[in-house]
Order: sequence, then structure tokens, then C-alpha cells
Amino acid sequence: MRFVATATAIALAGMLCSGAAFAKTITIKFSHVVADGTPKGQGALMFQKLVKERIGDDKVKVEVYPNSQLFGDAKEMEALALGDVQLIAPSLSKFDKYTKQVQVFDLPFLFDDINAVDRFQASPEGKKLLTSMEKKGFIGLGYWHNGMKQISANNPLRKPEDAAGKKFRIQASDVLLEQFKALNANPQKMAFAEVYQALQTGAIDGQENTWSNIYSQKFFEVQKYITESNHGAIDYMVVANTDFWTELPKDLRAQLETILSEVTVQVNKMAEELNQRDRQRIAESGNTEIIKLTKEEVDAWRKAMSPVWATFEKDIGADLIKAASAANT
Ligand code: LMR
Repeated sequence: MRFVATATAIALAGMLCSGAAFAKTITIKFSHVVADGTPKGQGALMFQKLVKERIGDDKVKVEVYPNSQLFGDAKEMEALALGDVQLIAPSLSKFDKYTKQVQVFDLPFLFDDINAVDRFQASPEGKKLLTSMEKKGFIGLGYWHNGMKQISANNPLRKPEDAAGKKFRIQASDVLLEQFKALNANPQKMAFAEVYQALQTGAIDGQENTWSNIYSQKFFEVQKYITESNHGAIDYMVVANTDFWTELPKDLRAQLETILSEVTVQVNKMAEELNQRDRQRIAESGNTEIIKLTKEEVDAWRKAMSPVWATFEKDIGADLIKAASAANT
């Protein structure tokens, strides 16, 4: 009898202990829409690895869901607000619904290259944008680069007029909508996960994206031409649910923030290299012709898209546009 009572007590204590250990494990679901081999995909995996090594997945378990596996980009923000995921890194274009200021990043030909994007993000004005959506439930933890956008289509786009009348997929951003309207084209907002099929079936004629996304999503297999326009950037804000993040134990949050900063440096260092690697792979595939533009041709695209700036100046703020432009020098 005594033996049974002791055994029961031991079993109970064991259950309580494992219950306590279980309760202490914090799960961070990191959901995103791109492939593992892209800058964002690599960043998410690096974060997972470093958290496991330095904190241990008995304390914090990071689960990475790439390729819209868990949530596509129409749903990932809602999921974050509801606490169904804890970390996401949407393209800056997709914050359109929550903030007008972040739309500065979508203005065509605003940044000369990804280094200018980086300089603006490191400026006081750029840093301030990270906290601009806190009250809406999103806390920005850093910017991750992808790269400059190129325009693909099944007809050669050398002059802006070549885009007229064509259907282009865009991310959910009103600035991008106006950008294609300025070319007299037909822009269509569409989730990233749907683009390949829409291109394949001819539901759309083209799209704009980075080399790494065009390669990893196989868009180049269903597009005959890619114009190397570098007319804008796809960059990300890593965001957490504000309540989740601010309610983490202080020391743990500090550890996670340190890891995230290290990952940010690494992602931003390798992003351009990954894009150039994928540009090369596309060029070598022989599937798609890459159209290089002369300086005069680039100027024609810039001029055609330029009315977009005035349309959004009031929403974004003239000072912010000025600060972003200053990053080019
Ligand atoms: C897109 O929708 O084209 C991109 O924002 C996808 C991504 O996350 O890079």
C-alpha cells in the first residue's frame, strides 16, 4: 500500500515537472511565402538554428513555414494579429493596409540600388518606420533585404509603351497599382503563391520581382523575357505581434533580439549575392532572354513611372520621400 502511494506520488511529481517544462516552452511560428533558398528563406532558417544553439528548443522552439505553407500573404498579417503566428517578414509593399508611410519604399526609381535602401533604413527616419505600426499590433524588429525588381513578360519590354495593355501581377500595394497604370497596363493584385499558375495559364502576361524570387518560383520557365529594370526593391520588415513580443521575459527577449540583429546583418550581406547567383542561373537556363537597358531606356521608364510620386506625396509625406532620396548620395 505504502509502495503504491509512493509510486503514485513519484508519478504525479513527474507529471507536474514535465507539465511545468512544457508550459515554459515558447513556440515561435515563423511563416513566410518564399523558398528556403532566397534571402528571407535563409534568414528564417538561420534564426531557427541560432535560437536552438544558444537558447535551446526546450525554452524557445522556432518553427519555420516557408512557401505559403501555413499562411499565404493575404492571410499572414491577420494570423499575426490573432497570434496564430508569432513572426513574419512581409515585403514592405504589403503593409499598405496598415500604414501609408511605409509605401515610400514602393515609389518607382526612388532608390538607385539596394545599398541606398540599406542607408535609408539605417537613418533615423527609416528606423522610425519600424515602430509605426505598434498600435496596430505589429512591432518591427528589423529590415531584411531581397533585391531590386525586374519586370518579366512574354513580350519584350524595352520601352515603357511595350507594357501598355498587358496584365501584370502586383503585390497588394496601391503605389504599385498606380505604377503600372502610369504605363497604361492592367495591374492585378494577387497573392504570391498564385503567380506561377497565373503566368502559366496566361491569366496574366507578366509580373515584377527579384531574381531570387523569379528563379525559385520558376517564373522564368513561363516567361520569355525579363527586363533588367531595377526600378524598385523588394525588401522586408520582420514583424512580431506587439503583445507577444513585449510580454516575453525581458532577458529572453533581449537574447532573441541579439540573435535577430546578427541574422539581419547576415541576410543583408548575402542578399545581393543570392540574387546575382539566381540571375546567372536564369541566364544560363536559355529559357528566358534578359533584356539589358541603355541609360536612355532606363530614363524613359523612370519618366513614364514618375507621376506616381506626386500622387502619393501627401499620404507618404514629402519629408520622408526627401529623406529616402537622400540615401542615394
Ligand atoms: C511578392 O509577393 O512578390 C513578394 O513580396 C514575395 C516575397 O515575400 O518576397
